Amino acid sequence: MNGSSEIRGFYKLSVEERMNLVRELTGLSDEEAGVISKTGGLPVDVADRMVENVIGGITIPMGIATNFRINGKDYLVPMALEEPSVVAAASNAAKMARSKGGFTVTNTGPVMIGQIQVVGAPNPQQAVRVLERRKQEVLKAANEQDPVLVSLGGGAKDMTAKVVKSTRGPMVVAELLVNTGDAMGANAVNTMAEAVAPLIEEQTGGEVFLRIISNLADRRLVRARATFDKKAMGGDEAVDGVLCAYAFADADAHRCATHNKGIMNGVIAVAIACGQDTRALEAGAHSYASRSGSYKPLTTWERNSEGDLVGTLEMPMAVGLVGGAARTHPAAKAAVKILGVKTAIELAEVMGAVGLAQNFAALRALATEGIQAGHMKLHARSMAITAGAEGKLVDAIAAKMIEEKKIRFDRAKEILAELRKS
Ligand code: MEV
Repeated sequence: MNGSSEIRGFYKLSVEERMNLVRELTGLSDEEAGVISKTGGLPVDVADRMVENVIGGITIPMGIATNFRINGKDYLVPMALEEPSVVAAASNAAKMARSKGGFTVTNTGPVMIGQIQVVGAPNPQQAVRVLERRKQEVLKAANEQDPVLVSLGGGAKDMTAKVVKSTRGPMVVAELLVNTGDAMGANAVNTMAEAVAPLIEEQTGGEVFLRIISNLADRRLVRARATFDKKAMGGDEAVDGVLCAYAFADADAHRCATHNKGIMNGVIAVAIACGQDTRALEAGAHSYASRSGSYKPLTTWERNSEGDLVGTLEMPMAVGLVGGAARTHPAAKAAVKILGVKTAIELAEVMGAVGLAQNFAALRALATEGIQAGHMKLHARSMAITAGAEGKLVDAIAAKMIEEKKIRFDRAKEILAELRKS
């Protein structure tokens, strides 16, 4: 860039003024600035209120995964992401589960944890006992912060306390258990945690530092299960392949990270489409996967007595429909309407089913033909389009390049010229 990044009052400028300044400093062309300035379905004034220092937006594709049947109900699932093959894979997997009844998903309710860290309590064990004995006072103070949530049946329901050994000595940690209803809950929980801090200091004789939600949302789990038809998925050998892939992930952290990444391909794509906090979901997923002390798969795979493949998934799913981008982003609101979910729990259950479907699709592809075959088809099509092909020519050129195993721009151009001549 051309100048200093220390820009006083950048936040006070309008969106347009910020963009002009960025252009001056970085040499963005009209065209480049234009693509960022076009905020698509998100009005620029809404974007400007969502985050700071806004200059525009970025659009990513939203596809619809088909064939999903979850708890006896059909869904069209919006998925927003930049990676090819994921939407197609989810749709295919859902088809193979559908003939066996689709996905069954349960949940533990929308309970989030708010942590209050107390340092310097004169007697930590005694402080824990006092917190447990006097927790009703704390719960009352917490619930006074959110009468609406309480009137809807949510609110702070319980509190636990523990001593955490740390490099700076023992700390007392109080944990509020809050039913956040249809909200993801970070705001509600953080407000409560901050409000009860003085009371907790009084009860423990220590000093409160952190007052914040935990993203290890292990009181807000979804459990999804589905049976995948042996014949449809490629027979006994394919079932064996998935079981071997699962055993590999269970035994090896390097493989397990990729195994769980495949699950998150599905979970996060629905989360983005529906305006969810994807970082919270990732943090929850991977910390939950590590809860035993080793990093483990979020799914399990087994064979049933008919020889079909049965998968289960268990993971935290902290999502909400009230508050956040699910309420402010028009595209997210429309995506939620397509999905047709009425509660945060229903959204969480759908996301669990999609995560399981995505994991199945990845393992099956990896254990059989490999994932590059599917990727290559898409890659060849986009190469043909870049070379100038339209309509039927796109598929014809892609097929020829795949057959020749030469998926290259120059070859796409040559084939296009040949086909146009003939
Ligand atoms: C790619 O985005 C996801 C996979 O790597 C997942 C896996 O390996 O299980 C295919």
